[in-house]
Amino acid sequence: MLDLKPPETLLELPVRPRRLRQSAVLRESVAETHLRPADFILPFFVTPGQKVAEPIAALPGVYRHSVDGFLRQAERALGLGVRSLLLFGVLPEAAKDPLGRSAADPAGPVPQAIRAARAAFGEEVVIYTDVCLCAHTTHGHCGVLKETPRGVRIDNDASLQRLAAMALAHAEAGADFVAPSDMMDGRVAYLRRALDQAGYSEVGILSYAVKYASAFYGPFREAAKSAPSFGDRKTYQMDIRNAREALREAALDETEGADMLMVKPALAYLDILARLRPQTQLPLVAYQVSGEYAMLKAAARAGALDEALAVRETLLAIKRAGADLIVSYYALEAFELGWL
Ligand code: PBG
Repeated sequence: MLDLKPPETLLELPVRPRRLRQSAVLRESVAETHLRPADFILPFFVTPGQKVAEPIAALPGVYRHSVDGFLRQAERALGLGVRSLLLFGVLPEAAKDPLGRSAADPAGPVPQAIRAARAAFGEEVVIYTDVCLCAHTTHGHCGVLKETPRGVRIDNDASLQRLAAMALAHAEAGADFVAPSDMMDGRVAYLRRALDQAGYSEVGILSYAVKYASAFYGPFREAAKSAPSFGDRKTYQMDIRNAREALREAALDETEGADMLMVKPALAYLDILARLRPQTQLPLVAYQVSGEYAMLKAAARAGALDEALAVRETLLAIKRAGADLIVSYYALEAFELGWL
């Protein structure tokens, strides 16, 4: 006969959370967060020319590809189920001017890549394009400049026209989403109107709504040849100390007509993702930026940690914090090598 007395306090109850961790199969069945190929957006740096594949020293394993190489890599990604692509154009110095006119060139590398991907993959692929002037301006700022009594400043409203011209060139080439990353005020509303007026009401806007002035963009600026030639981006990108401001930026962009919202960088801003998640019903995107990738690569190469496990852990953290989609330079490698 059992000799059990009823527990006298709650703490006497045999609470054993470890029961749910006893085997890999059981853990899998109760796992709350999953990473699928469809959760990822893979970035590409597209450059003019043919058969160009330039390794980027600051981003080991990432290349600047001409359209032919981009198509080959995209095909590899598609084979793994990673079917969302984010395109950045990289131009030679000679193609730049203070207004970033090359950004709207229909013969530029990004419009060409869009047409080629659409022709090759049709609706099997979702094409996002970065909309920003920094890789197209001689000064490397994300907007155009103006002289003011207080010195050279970013001309917010004049920048909107250039950004809209860029977005239209992408829409015309067949992009699914344009993704403004410039952080000018009012650009989502402006792009929405420009797209609608030109007949591209079906082209969506993924807004880099919450983009901090971060040290973690360093490797990207080498990759895209887009570092500012003077000053920094703190008059348009967000102050890293602010969280309430992020919720405000996101709410504004949603009101202006954004279809998806992005938080960037990802790992150092999980609190922002988690706070933004209940504020919006839109899909949330997090960008695991170049510096996050470079940091993991460097630590792995130094033998400091297991790359597969660390990559999985950081990507899971981003998803768990509230991201629906993750932009990551690891998206191809991680699925190819079975890390996730
Ligand atoms: C363009 C842009 C940047 C990134 C995405 N779009 C760089 C910047 O703002 O300087 C960063 C992406 C990364 O670091 O991977 N403005």
